[in-house]
Amino acid sequence: MMLEKQSVVIAGGGSTYTAGIVMMLIENQDKFPLRKLKFYDNDEDRQNIVAKACEVIVKERAPEIEFSATTDPEEAFTDIDFVMAHIRVGGLSMREKDEKIPLKYGVVGQETCGPGGMAYGMRSIPGVVELIDYMEKYSPDAWMLNYSNPAAIVAEATRRMRPNAKIINICDMPVAIKKSIADIVGLESESDIVDRYYGLNHFGWWTEMTDKQGNDLMPKLKEHVAKYGYAAAEGEGNPLLEENSWMDTFQKAKDVYAVDPTTVPNTYLKYYLYPDYVVAHTDPNHTRANEVMDNREKNVFAECERIAAAQTAEDTTIEAGEHAEFIVQLAGALAYNTYERMLLIVKNEGAIVNLADDAMVEVPCIVSKRGYEPLCMGKIPHFQKGMIEQQVAVEKLVVDAFEEKSYQKLWQAMTLSKTVPSASVAKQILDEMIDANGNWWPELN
Ligand code: NAD
Ligand code: LMR
Repeated sequence: MMLEKQSVVIAGGGSTYTAGIVMMLIENQDKFPLRKLKFYDNDEDRQNIVAKACEVIVKERAPEIEFSATTDPEEAFTDIDFVMAHIRVGGLSMREKDEKIPLKYGVVGQETCGPGGMAYGMRSIPGVVELIDYMEKYSPDAWMLNYSNPAAIVAEATRRMRPNAKIINICDMPVAIKKSIADIVGLESESDIVDRYYGLNHFGWWTEMTDKQGNDLMPKLKEHVAKYGYAAAEGEGNPLLEENSWMDTFQKAKDVYAVDPTTVPNTYLKYYLYPDYVVAHTDPNHTRANEVMDNREKNVFAECERIAAAQTAEDTTIEAGEHAEFIVQLAGALAYNTYERMLLIVKNEGAIVNLADDAMVEVPCIVSKRGYEPLCMGKIPHFQKGMIEQQVAVEKLVVDAFEEKSYQKLWQAMTLSKTVPSASVAKQILDEMIDANGNWWPELN
């Protein structure tokens, strides 16, 4: 069957992930053929570094795709079927502050968890909402697939501020974890796993996993996780684990699992269950933002510049973003009605029976031309329910703070976070973050 060709804009064209996503899209032309590929960013110089290389890559490997890069929203968002959005409002330099300010007070400093995630959320909300508005103005039938972080806060904000928008929020972390799980249980690919999972973004648990034949994978998996976390016994496997901080996170899943051995956890729960350990094992002067700037950003941009100068990418080291393939699965399901089963961040409305309807939860959904249909995960136990309700309240308070420009609500959000020990520490962090964020945040009253 001939698949209808699609037109895609990548918003955040200058992202360190874009080149890998372009390679992945080119590799998947049989499943998700493109007629147009556009880049959009609000930083022309940064986008150009990536765009000049991708122009060469597309010309060499898929010349039938019409490629362009622009900072003009009308040009970018006109005649589009899908927006793939991965912006980082404030860039890696603000991420560094999100991480380092809490650490000064002995609190977890992380991109999406704790006060750093809230600070990033306050910056991201208007950026993502602006992309929705461009899409609705210039291509009202398009879908936005958003993986800009912090996805949980962004999802709550877009639910409230643009309730009818065709936006789907999705995260690559469950996919990355399932890649390791496939290795552990001896399956070829994570797409061979059928899972039941519930929670929030970066805050969830798997209750069941089988292969496509229905064989239970949990006993073998649990035996492994209890000893090694999600790291392979010999410490290799998932490409993420080449970086020390990720190796530590995958190994620490062992201790997160120990708290509730009836489920297996998302790795991010370490920030909430072992914040003291995380702080003790973080260098407050060299955080994950520094690691990304020193490695991924430097390497990707140097390679892009090399390709643009050589005008060939034949021998490039840029690899197809392996766990970015979920984006093609999602877009393909919407375009070609494949009824793919995927974990998405959606309005609860009964998917977790004993949780508020208006919480934005991460659960398996069936995706087709009709959009997504969440599957019911039933009732959840006290431990997870307590943790989730606390975290939902934090995320809702951040969006309240943004909408009402309320200092009080943001202070409450930081106070309520499981990562913060007291209201006084929350206040100190908040006050310093207000200074650091300047015009990136609305002025709080
Ligand atoms: P990055 O800073 O390298 O790139 C982000 C790009 O977004 C920059 O070029 C920046 O100029 C642009 N941008 C910022 N604000 C914008 C706005 N309002 N409008 C248009 N463009 C804007 O960041 P990165 O490290 O590549 O991460 C990008 C995002 O993707 C982050 O939110 C990150 O958390 C998320 N993420 C994506 C994946 C994935 O698999 N694709 C995985 C993990 C995280
Ligand atoms: C990133 O890739 O920048 C993050 O979203 C995850 C991380 O810390 O690497």
